[in-house]
Amino acid sequence: MSAAPPLLLSLAGRGEALAAPLVAQAGRLELRRFPDGESYVRLLDDPRGREVVVLADLSRPDEKLVPLLLLCDAAHELGATRVGLIAPYLPYMRQDTRFHPGEAISSRSLGRLLSRAVDWLVTVDPHLHRHASLDEVLSVPSRVVAAAPAIAAWIRAEVPRPLLVGPDEESGQWVAAVAALAQAPHAVLEKVRSGDREVRLSFPDLSAWRDHTPVIVDDIVSTARTMAAAVRGLRAAGLAAPVCVGVHALFCEDALAALEAAGPARVVTCDTVPHPSNAISLTGALAEAARALLASAPA
Ligand code: R5P
Repeated sequence: MSAAPPLLLSLAGRGEALAAPLVAQAGRLELRRFPDGESYVRLLDDPRGREVVVLADLSRPDEKLVPLLLLCDAAHELGATRVGLIAPYLPYMRQDTRFHPGEAISSRSLGRLLSRAVDWLVTVDPHLHRHASLDEVLSVPSRVVAAAPAIAAWIRAEVPRPLLVGPDEESGQWVAAVAALAQAPHAVLEKVRSGDREVRLSFPDLSAWRDHTPVIVDDIVSTARTMAAAVRGLRAAGLAAPVCVGVHALFCEDALAALEAAGPARVVTCDTVPHPSNAISLTGALAEAARALLASAPA
């Protein structure tokens, strides 16, 4: 590692919180758009001979990817020894196969793009369904921070007699891990999606759990139709109003209103995507993962 501390450059507006646990210097950037909409990026600290760590919120990614690529490229050109990326939410992972002829497989495309731009990457619970690991989409070293321990700790502190509920089969393994850490029972629903905002859920018999508080846990809350359908179904089955826990709070357009209309007891999320529902911090875990990559020898 270089003698000077790593330079932390934040495209997420929350660099200060990460600088101390990362033992990094919070660097300064000038970011703006030209009148024609093109991005302007300027590093105000010299990265020559230093490790650079970029923190980027990549929710709603299309407008954020160009400034990110310009920043990483400039840092390399200006002599940074390595440029690492902390992207707490890794976008484009759900389109992980060619469902129809001619479609872009966006998980692979984004992986190739980022692998050319950065030397390592840290993220939280990427949506890996058909890919066994991030190594299938990235060709640079990466670390995945699991949100499960922090979510389980929050549930243990905040929810009496929790029953963990995964809203679809994909969530099964993950919800089981949170349930084990929270020392709580769990159930998994079945989901059929027929459109961006249309989902249908099937519920097992949950009548034995009417004295428990259901806690629905999902990795991504996008339109929130999955969470809302789960809340409605659990309430219709006679269970208490559920607590909703999401990792990545995308909440598109009317998503939060649609979820609240279903009648949850609470809606909380991890702080991977800035949102008023953020209640579970992963800053320390992100810093620890990045420190491990910084301590590793350059490839
Ligand atoms: C998909 O499999 C994910 O795990 C989430 O269940 C999904 O992205 C949630 O989407 P929405 O909030 O739009 O229902």
